Amino acid sequence: MNKKHFFKVVANLLFIGGAFVLSSCCGKCCKNEACPNEGAAVTTASAVDSSAIVLDAISKRTSIRAYQETAVEEEKVEKILRAGMAAPSAMNKQPWSFTVVNDKAILKQIADSAPNAGMAANAPLAIVVCGDMDKAIEGDGREFWVQDASAATENILLAAHALGLGAVWTGAYPNVAKAKMFARILNIPDNQVVLCVIPMGYPAEAPAPKDKWNEGNVHYNVWK
Ligand SMILES: Cc1cc2nc3c(=O)[nH]c(=O)nc-3n(C[C@H](O)[C@H](O)[C@H](O)COP(=O)(O)O)c2cc1C
Repeated sequence: MNKKHFFKVVANLLFIGGAFVLSSCCGKCCKNEACPNEGAAVTTASAVDSSAIVLDAISKRTSIRAYQETAVEEEKVEKILRAGMAAPSAMNKQPWSFTVVNDKAILKQIADSAPNAGMAANAPLAIVVCGDMDKAIEGDGREFWVQDASAATENILLAAHALGLGAVWTGAYPNVAKAKMFARILNIPDNQVVLCVIPMGYPAEAPAPKDKWNEGNVHYNVWK
């Protein structure tokens, strides 16, 4: 192999190697099928960009309690619900349901019945997150539904923020009387427990996000 040929081979190998590293394909799959590992942790420039976007959304999200009258587009509502359902859940039971409320009269009824959800009266939309007891784990792990539905709720709050909306978690369960009252208003069946109501809409206020970093909350290994 002469010198020129050698450098050409090396250049080609570097090009192929670079393309492989930048591709999101694991390289183990059949090229004719969708890669099962697509999107797996491959550090590319775009992965670095998206981590900054995700972390920014998490740190800038804040509770929004005043809304413009503008309706929330259906496509955005679906994206938000998809984010909710993307949450982790114990044993992947997904023990939740979501009730979208965009009827002004019902939003007012919710607000009038619970002062802590009073902002619903001026929201174009609220999503009511329930635990679905028919899907919840039987026995010891039953109460995991609360964490599962809470994870879905946080995903909803983050998705709303990412889409330029403002939202707030207003609590129901473990206040059983309040959870039942919301269920009555919405004709939600007995196998569902209302965890929270999330009024949302385009923000009519811009409170500064709170910096909650507290080193004192962090411990390594054995507490000192
Ligand atoms: C379980 C839970 C229940 C909450 N209930 C209410 C509520 O009933 N009304 C309300 O205005 N905010 C409620 N919030 C929102 C909190 O007040 C808010 O998250 C907290 O003050 C921190 O502010 P931030 O969301 O802007 O970071 C609730 C939040 C959580 C997690």
